[in-house]
Amino acid sequence: MTRFPIDELKAIQTPFYFYDLKLLDQTLNEIKRTARDPRFKVHYAIKANANPGVLRRIQAAGLGVDCVSGGEIKAALEAGFKNDRIVFAGVGKSDWEIEVALEKEIGCFNVESEPELRIINEMAATMGKKAKIAIRVNPNIDAHTHEYITTGLAENKFGVNLEQLNDIITLANSLECIQLEGLHFHIGSQITETEPFMMLCQTINRLQDEYEALGIKFSSINVGGGLGIDYANPDKHPIPDFENYFKTFHNHLRLREGQVLHFELGRSVVAQCGSLITKVLYVKEGITKRFAIVDAGMTDLIRPALYNAHHKIENISNPNGELHHYDIVGPICESSDCFGKEELLPSISRGDLLALRSAGAYGEIMASQYNCRTLPSSVFSEK
Ligand code: LLP
Repeated sequence: MTRFPIDELKAIQTPFYFYDLKLLDQTLNEIKRTARDPRFKVHYAIKANANPGVLRRIQAAGLGVDCVSGGEIKAALEAGFKNDRIVFAGVGKSDWEIEVALEKEIGCFNVESEPELRIINEMAATMGKKAKIAIRVNPNIDAHTHEYITTGLAENKFGVNLEQLNDIITLANSLECIQLEGLHFHIGSQITETEPFMMLCQTINRLQDEYEALGIKFSSINVGGGLGIDYANPDKHPIPDFENYFKTFHNHLRLREGQVLHFELGRSVVAQCGSLITKVLYVKEGITKRFAIVDAGMTDLIRPALYNAHHKIENISNPNGELHHYDIVGPICESSDCFGKEELLPSISRGDLLALRSAGAYGEIMASQYNCRTLPSSVFSEK
């Protein structure tokens, strides 16, 4: 359970991200324990949080990394991740990003279209390299999650449709500077049920059978990320159920001889170890409502405004006060700049610190400077 050292935190300029590194370490240990099948290779999806202090811990735990931009590849290398443990996805890889990836000889490109495959081949030829690639397949599976973060349905821009897969595999195998390693999938994010992952296993089993019959074998399969976390009860479930997650693939995916299975987990690795700490500026009495106006806004944590997400809010200055209802709102000039409506919280006063929990993933990294605001800083706790 995350402990907030309130006296120390009071001295720090708000808003800032507070990272509980002990919890991050425990989470990483649990991943190592539950992904112990030697064929499993876990990559951290760096898009969730690229704070160097967080990255170094993840690198030290031995995970690989999943990048979606040249900037992420650079951040991963700077944090000490090995080049051959980097996979690189994204529907729109720029030439300079492909060049960086080829130059650094990363582990695998997750290729999302035929024109991209041809460009990677051309650039690899010019640079005298051979690019290892996996083809990202759009498996048309409903992950039952928010429409902005579901990626595996037919109408998404991601990956290659099942009907077009044969052609691109044939093409990949014919290109001189391409080495086809495997197939890549990612069906969405914040998936809290087991069923979509089981369906993914079944789809992959079927595809592998079909390709095996054609004499085509893959040396790797990548099932992406997506494991969800408990936003409502961060202290009850500080570590996601990795045991069940990895067991699902262990039990339902039929890996072939010598095949490795890659995972790309983002949110489940870092979400629960981070909180956004904000100070209450004013308590404003409306006619039917009472507002607590805080100094963090959607620029610091955009998930509530963008996905209608709810992060548990705690008054860490006055945890045992009398309970009242508040709307918790930020200072940005947008009505969507609201962290919670009718929140039942211990009595709030000007100067109190509030913690917005489960903000370690897609929090700090998605911050913006809208309204000419300063980006939030970060502090770390080892206790
Ligand atoms: N692999 C690929 C190809 C992805 O697109 C993603 C996330 C991941 C792995 C990691 O997924 P995770 O394990 O974190 O679910 N900003 C949104 C989430 C966007 C996820 C995008 N792709 C949010 O705040 O909910």
